[in-house]
Amino acid sequence: MNLTIDLQHSGISEEKLAARREEAQAALKKIRSQELDYTGWTSYPETIDKAELDAVKAAADQIRKSSDYFLVLGVGGSFMGAKAVIDLLKPEGCRTEVLFAGYHFSARYIQELLHKIEGGDLSICVISKSGTTTETLSAYGIFKEYMLEKYGAEETAKRMYVITEHRSNYLFDAATAEGCTIFDLPVDIGGRYSVLTPVGLLPIAVAGIDIDEMLAGAAELAKDGAFDGDGLDYAILRQAMFDSGKRIEVFEFFDPYAAYFGEWLKQLFGESEGKDGKGIFPASLVFSRDLHSMGQFLQQGTPSFFETFLLNEHPAEDVEIPESAMKPFAGKTIQQINTCAEKGVFDAHVKAGVPAIRILIDYLNPERVGELIYFFETQCAVSATLSGVDPFNQPGVEAYKKEMRGYISELDK
Ligand code: PA5
Repeated sequence: MNLTIDLQHSGISEEKLAARREEAQAALKKIRSQELDYTGWTSYPETIDKAELDAVKAAADQIRKSSDYFLVLGVGGSFMGAKAVIDLLKPEGCRTEVLFAGYHFSARYIQELLHKIEGGDLSICVISKSGTTTETLSAYGIFKEYMLEKYGAEETAKRMYVITEHRSNYLFDAATAEGCTIFDLPVDIGGRYSVLTPVGLLPIAVAGIDIDEMLAGAAELAKDGAFDGDGLDYAILRQAMFDSGKRIEVFEFFDPYAAYFGEWLKQLFGESEGKDGKGIFPASLVFSRDLHSMGQFLQQGTPSFFETFLLNEHPAEDVEIPESAMKPFAGKTIQQINTCAEKGVFDAHVKAGVPAIRILIDYLNPERVGELIYFFETQCAVSATLSGVDPFNQPGVEAYKKEMRGYISELDK
């Protein structure tokens, strides 16, 4: 594993971790045996069909050639991972801007988007496992109409991509009838575990990020033995935190471009663990911005949380602060100051008695990000299993969808 997991300041003893290692390994074995539903993601980075992967790359090339904008419509697991990775890694100089919609009901946002895309060429990708989600499908209706007016039916079909399960649902049937390209979201992979399938790979490839490298990073961890020994200690530790009364995990970043990675983690852990009256509430903060708001709470507030710092050891960019600036910052670089903030915050919080974990990534590149995604998916699935809940269902989300549809039907009356 290329990630360094530092649990020294968590306050959880080695004995406590060791006591559940066997159980955690057994949980992983069961998840990987694929006797459970929705565990296809565990082997997907290694077993992805080469022809499917080539088709994703070819589609991404075509989209970049033909489009100024690539609009991804999806909500939850159908967009969050792609946005997280693109924000983290987006290389400069990509002609096609990847935009996201269909993840809320903001009319103002849709209007602004319609204005923004007016002058340029557009391709769209609609992503929905169920093929029926209200946020996604209402946006699909609006933007499909826009495409039909702009390009006509034949060209719209060439510019419209759909990612869903290969079986009859509203989206699959419409896309089939219209002749759009359809990529398969395997039946045995759920939304929040789907970043490394076409769901994430197509938008990420359009943004110019190397998806082969991402898959290679994940595939390293998909190998047998990758989590052997103390490899699942983070999952065990989370449950030990819960047992010791901690109810919130705060993921913390020192890079504003990681904010959506925090959103993805919130979705992954929140939907996987928050059920049967259990679960650790996942929160995320971006420093140093949030030190000036939540820093006070972290230092002295209700001790119901633990902190997980996600740190990049070698950021690629830096900027020097001129000698004319205020001492003692003059002549230092922004990154040097950021590192001092990382160390200072960590030390101060540990001294205040807050349990703190560090996950260190040596270089931020597609391979490491693939590894990081697979790492968290695995730890989350094991952690949820250790807590006794099914990591792969989301009955609560389905309940809200049903209630909302009831109100929408009443609008016809
Ligand atoms: O992780 C999940 O399963 C959910 O967050 C879904 O991704 C989300 O509800 C969207 O569902 P769908 O892809 O069916 O539109």
